[in-house]
Amino acid sequence: MPTAAEVEALREEAFGAIDAAADLEALEAVRIAWLGRKAGRIPALMQAIPSVPEDERATFGRAVNRLKADVAERIERRRAELAERAERRPAVDVTLPGHPLRLGRLHPITRATREMVEIFGRLGFECVEGPEVEDEWHNFVGLNIPPAHPARDPLDNYFLTDKALLRTQTSTVQIRIMETRPPPVRLVAPGRVYRPDTVDAGHSNMFHQLEGLWVAEGVTFAGLKAVLSAFARAWGGPQARTRFLPSYFPFTEPSAELYFSCLLCGGAGCPACKRTGWMEIGGCGMVDPNVFEAVGYDPERVTGLAFGLGIDRAAMLRYGINDIRLLFANDVRFLRQF
Ligand code: DAH
Repeated sequence: MPTAAEVEALREEAFGAIDAAADLEALEAVRIAWLGRKAGRIPALMQAIPSVPEDERATFGRAVNRLKADVAERIERRRAELAERAERRPAVDVTLPGHPLRLGRLHPITRATREMVEIFGRLGFECVEGPEVEDEWHNFVGLNIPPAHPARDPLDNYFLTDKALLRTQTSTVQIRIMETRPPPVRLVAPGRVYRPDTVDAGHSNMFHQLEGLWVAEGVTFAGLKAVLSAFARAWGGPQARTRFLPSYFPFTEPSAELYFSCLLCGGAGCPACKRTGWMEIGGCGMVDPNVFEAVGYDPERVTGLAFGLGIDRAAMLRYGINDIRLLFANDVRFLRQF
């Protein structure tokens, strides 16, 4: 049998457990352990009262009864304390609207590029990419641009070393792909190009081109016009028209400059098209046999159409942007408009 002193020690232990209960659930567990009818420690002591020797029974019984009352009281006090604390805890209203995230958006050049690639994809053109740092073979020689050609003037190129330069055109990718694959090929290659131009509203020393190449047996100039006219309508709407002006590029023969009817004024003439109703959008032509020789294709067997479109120009036309510098100023007030 526990002595009176041991009953006191039990009280300390019970109080310690009660005070340590951190929430109502823990407190209930403590209550069951000490006062629970079935297995509680205090009821067990009470059951033992009849077997205590008679002369001690009354003292022992009183001590146990006091212990039971004190523990019950302490539990009630602790319960009130915990309940009040739970009430005071600041409520979280999960139905309040959250802090809005600032969403970014695609740069107009990215949007234009993706859309152009998508349009040509519908026409069966695969999308590929090439490096921006190039060698003279891919930027010039393979493209039938001889050493004495003005395009190779160091002042018109960003040479990084004697042999390496930033590409001035995406036509380099034509060579890279044809070198590694047999015909037929039908691809577009978007990307950045670099020229040491003086920057103004219409010029940037870094801009974007979308190269196109379709080589197979029986590709014709009529096919070139069909592909680019289909693109013009997909890009500018069903009323968009194309114009092909005779031109010269070393890697195409015949060559043409490609114009779209002005998307801003519909061809009537406005400041954006310098009142001509037309906007130059790129160059095109039929692949020169010398290019096929350079990459090991048989010019007697295959023919090819090629084009290089200005992505920045196409985007400016489409979105009514009148200064190319806006595209690269990284000004969110401008970029947010797209
Ligand atoms: N590479 C030419 C330029 O940067 C554009 C061009 C013209 C690309 C005719 C072509 C083409 O593929 O056939 O000015």
